[in-house]
Amino acid sequence: MQKILIKGGTPLRGEVSITGAKNAALGILPATLLCRGECVLENVPHISDTKHYETMLTKLGSVITHNADGTMSVDTKDVSADNIYKIEEESTLMRASYYMIGALLGLFNDVKIPLPGGCDIGARPIDQHIKGFLALGATVDLRDGYIHAYTDKLVGSRVYFDVVSVGATINVMLAAVFAEGITTLENVAKEPHVVDVANFLNKAGAKIVGAGTDVIKITGVKKLNPVSYCVVADQITAGTYMIAAAATEGDVLIKNIIPEHLDSISAKIKEMGAEIIEFDDALRVIGHRPFNPTKLKTLPHPGFPTDLQQPMGVLMSIARGSSSITETIFENRFKYTDELRKMGANIIVAGNTAVFTGVEKLTACPIKATDLRAGAAMIIAALVADGTSEITGLEHIDRGYDNIVNNLKALGADIERIDD
Ligand code: EPZ
Repeated sequence: MQKILIKGGTPLRGEVSITGAKNAALGILPATLLCRGECVLENVPHISDTKHYETMLTKLGSVITHNADGTMSVDTKDVSADNIYKIEEESTLMRASYYMIGALLGLFNDVKIPLPGGCDIGARPIDQHIKGFLALGATVDLRDGYIHAYTDKLVGSRVYFDVVSVGATINVMLAAVFAEGITTLENVAKEPHVVDVANFLNKAGAKIVGAGTDVIKITGVKKLNPVSYCVVADQITAGTYMIAAAATEGDVLIKNIIPEHLDSISAKIKEMGAEIIEFDDALRVIGHRPFNPTKLKTLPHPGFPTDLQQPMGVLMSIARGSSSITETIFENRFKYTDELRKMGANIIVAGNTAVFTGVEKLTACPIKATDLRAGAAMIIAALVADGTSEITGLEHIDRGYDNIVNNLKALGADIERIDD
């Protein structure tokens, strides 16, 4: 089993360059299926979730090449519906495999794959995805753990999402690209990664307007052309490093980002006492104790992202006074507080709210990542704790953080990854 060892107490200093957004790449990779030729993607993060997608695309008949310049070529001209059965194993490995439904329904009008795996942050239904496919004229059968969506023809329609859903927004957008006429999606997600998938599709010839607002309109087209595209920087990874820089009382320049995508995180970290200097494509974060307490509620973009509430919980654990987090997106995203309590944090969880009473210090101990962003929180907690912590559950961290150990080492952290 692999472990990360971190000796806490060193302020992070230096600069880190942020790679492409996991949650954009996980929408753009299946979207290449609609282009039926060779796309060249830049800034795809090297994480296990994108590797799962590479495997699925290859099994469908794509040819993927990792080029010397760091780009990835994805040639989907030979993708065949006869190969869909081959991606069943990977389909259950991660939730984002659900985009294969929208993409393959849009491409072949018929797709049957296992339902995606849930994550332990909540039930994570896909009823809104299905609502969209039904509205486009598809029949959707759920049986024996499979979803089978099929139709003679996809026809544009109006869909009002009952819940703001990143996945449903992207998935139905993928299915609607070739649908006849106009599809109007209302109450959609506005995250930067949703906009990035729409930008990719439009560059390939789709007609999508409104991404980033509450309403997206898609006018069906006959085909898409393969394109070159650079994936947007990862807002969540950037925010993770911002919080780590603040918590360790460091001074870090976070580069190759769109600072506006981090407005809610910058505002909260400033409120807690950190200094943030904004550049065109970078943010400099300077942290110093004591940290002020604050209240935080997770909301769909442009609100505070649920994927950063766990790292923020660490900062609140060592801030003065009483802070709180209300998690409105997922029903079970406070498991990481059990691990922080082992380190001496004083946290009470009641329903969807956690109350943090700041302590002087956290103490190192063996801790585990219970999901991807909880893993990031464990790393930050170990960076500020007294002593050397051992972190397990690295398969969660590897799903979404590209090169995090080396990046932190370059920022001065006393960190190493070992084979135990
Ligand atoms: C995406 O998950 C992200 N994953 C998540 O990031 C992120 O936390 C989440 O969006 C919210 O921003 C990917 O993009 C691959 P949702 P998704 O649909 O699409 C409910 C990470 O750490 N809902 O926006 O699954 C759902 O239960 C991961 O990178 C329905 O009720 O999230 C949740 O309460 C974790 N019915 C809320 O909506 C549906 O059909 C938001 O979920 C769909 C969702």
